[in-house]
Amino acid sequence: MLDALQPQPPDAILGLMAAFRADPREGKLDLGVGVWRDAEGRTPVMRAAREAERRIWEGETTKTYVALAGDPAFLDAMAALVLGPGTPREAVAVVATPGGTGAVRQGLELVRLAAPGAAVWVPDPTWPNHLSILRHLRMETRRYRYLDAAQGVDEAGMLADLSGARPGDAVLLHGCCHNPSGADPSPEAWAALDALVREKGLLPFVDLAYQGFGAGLEMDAAATRMLASSGECLIAASCSKSFGLYRERAGALLAVGGDTGVVQANLAHLNRQNYSFPPDHGARIVSTILGDDALRADWEAELSDIRATITALRERLAAELRRLTDGGRFDFVLRHRGMFSRLGATPAQVEAMCRDRGIYMVGDGRINVAGLSAATVPVLARAMVEAGV
Ligand code: LMR
Repeated sequence: MLDALQPQPPDAILGLMAAFRADPREGKLDLGVGVWRDAEGRTPVMRAAREAERRIWEGETTKTYVALAGDPAFLDAMAALVLGPGTPREAVAVVATPGGTGAVRQGLELVRLAAPGAAVWVPDPTWPNHLSILRHLRMETRRYRYLDAAQGVDEAGMLADLSGARPGDAVLLHGCCHNPSGADPSPEAWAALDALVREKGLLPFVDLAYQGFGAGLEMDAAATRMLASSGECLIAASCSKSFGLYRERAGALLAVGGDTGVVQANLAHLNRQNYSFPPDHGARIVSTILGDDALRADWEAELSDIRATITALRERLAAELRRLTDGGRFDFVLRHRGMFSRLGATPAQVEAMCRDRGIYMVGDGRINVAGLSAATVPVLARAMVEAGV
């Protein structure tokens, strides 16, 4: 029977990780997968996470199951972190999931359960795994315009395309730090989106994977909070980047609207069907950090340093490109937020930079800005100019 299986296309981002590892060249540069890296190229455990882990290790007396929805302390902490004080806790159904990807998957399954014929509108471009999960779930997928030629958001195109959605369709939105482009809608465009989804009876589904990496924890959640306070809303929240917990797989799916008890029971049911109890260790690190004033302050300070480092790298890259090209053609990297920027490179130019200079970026020209350092910014800028980007 297993002979019937067909090969699967490699994941564009994970395939790049493997190719980078296999490249023997000195001085190769990994701007692929979205993980934070310090100036030495390391992805350290955050200070507060390490301390939280120590406390958990000392205090934990059992590994028995907690609850199908996840540890209540984590669920409360995530509802507060994502939604702030504007949405009362009792109005939110929440489950812990294996990372943000687990939350995306559970959220899409919830949409399919509630409205089997609903189409899901996703931005063009979007994180490739959104498309792949939708295909796997055999859900109807529609694209809406997102990026303009200057690597900013095509706000008019986005709103025009979404105005063609049918009532009951879901709209996937990146809450902040759009992946892959780094371009986020303006506050005015978010307000127009909010009005549009309510007017047309659409379900906004926010993927919030980079809270704290853009303009700050509160600002990065502002659009999500607006949508959650105006009507039904799903949110896939990831702790992978914000808490540096990548491999621990900590995340949550939040749902606002409907009968909260019934929605909560459906979310717990989906957990049971897919993997039963969600992973607990990363979630417990998060609730330990968020539940302790000193740990939380230290976490916020480290996150804010990370954000400042990314901003400084963006400034360096823009300045270097200005110097080499005698113009501000690439100044969009200053306006982009979070780990990523899409540079506007063609697949052939991306390939040339990899072949000639050992610089790895996703085929659509997405770079992980955090993969750069003061030393490698000029290397990338030169390679871009050489490749004719
Ligand atoms: C990325 O886009 O690089 C990250 O979200 C990691 C992943 O799983 O693709």
